[in-house]
Amino acid sequence: MDAEAYRQEALDAVERAETPPALDEARVRYLGRKSELKQALREVRDRETGMALNAAREAIETALEARQATLERAELDRALTEDVVDVTLPGEELPLGALHPITQVRRIVEDAFLGLGYEVRDDREVETVEYNFDKLAFAPTHPSRSHRDTFFFDDTHVLRTETSPSQIHILEEKAPPVYMVSLGRVYRRDAITATRYPIFHQFEGLAVDRNLTLADLKGTLLHVMRELYGPERGVRFRTHFFPFTEPSIEPDVSCGICGGKGCRTCKFSGWIEMGGAGVVDPRVFENVGLDPEEWTGFAFGCGLERAAQLRHDIPDIRVLWEGDLRALRQF
Ligand code: PHE
Repeated sequence: MDAEAYRQEALDAVERAETPPALDEARVRYLGRKSELKQALREVRDRETGMALNAAREAIETALEARQATLERAELDRALTEDVVDVTLPGEELPLGALHPITQVRRIVEDAFLGLGYEVRDDREVETVEYNFDKLAFAPTHPSRSHRDTFFFDDTHVLRTETSPSQIHILEEKAPPVYMVSLGRVYRRDAITATRYPIFHQFEGLAVDRNLTLADLKGTLLHVMRELYGPERGVRFRTHFFPFTEPSIEPDVSCGICGGKGCRTCKFSGWIEMGGAGVVDPRVFENVGLDPEEWTGFAFGCGLERAAQLRHDIPDIRVLWEGDLRALRQF
């Protein structure tokens, strides 16, 4: 075979290969095991022919390598210019969670009281009649003791109807001074409507110290209502009755929907009832073994659903329990 002609033909083929597969084809054809060159090398008899054939082989190998590098560089250039990634395109949206409105107000209340130096607690939801009613000085005939109003497990166990049993628990656990807020679920046998649900949340506050007065209670409630609803809301107090406070009051907040002018939400009164409060009744101190002559205190309890409703203008309380993301996403 003519080594020189073979070399020339192979180099031409290498130069003409435009893609890696085409280059591979040329490699197999001119340097492969069955190529004319390998065949000739196997049969070579004289040194001169051998040297000529090997020189051709080396030349072809060098050309193949060079061409391969050229093709790879061209491919890289192409990828860099054509397969452009547009970093300004919008990404894939990931679903983002949010805190439930009840959790949001719960945290506002907790933060407000932590800032006042109160301790935060969370007591049991299955309560005894003794702690839910007796030690809170509920009269034996008080209507909340009835099976129509309260969920009973048996004669002595109920689902707590309020967070007020926390007052008794903390006073039995530690000596005053006590400043605590207790948050959690409470249960009452109410039909489900836009404004009532048989499970709801309350926060209960209790302060027991020397020389506490109704003025301290009012100042504390004013502070927390402002944390919840902003400084422009009005707060007023009406007298009321609770078995475990004397005197007892109910705080109202001015209606934010009508600005106090009167609307459906506030039943045209301009005010919305926030819960109950009062000065700790001496009987409660006696029930936990504290001297009512020595200690003074105040307590309050408010609903968290009511707070969430007022903050977000939620007309129907049921959305807070249904877990419908279309509704919850709005808060
Ligand atoms: N426990 C009362 C209620 O649920 C509220 C309250 C708490 C009143 C503390 C006075 C003192 O209605």
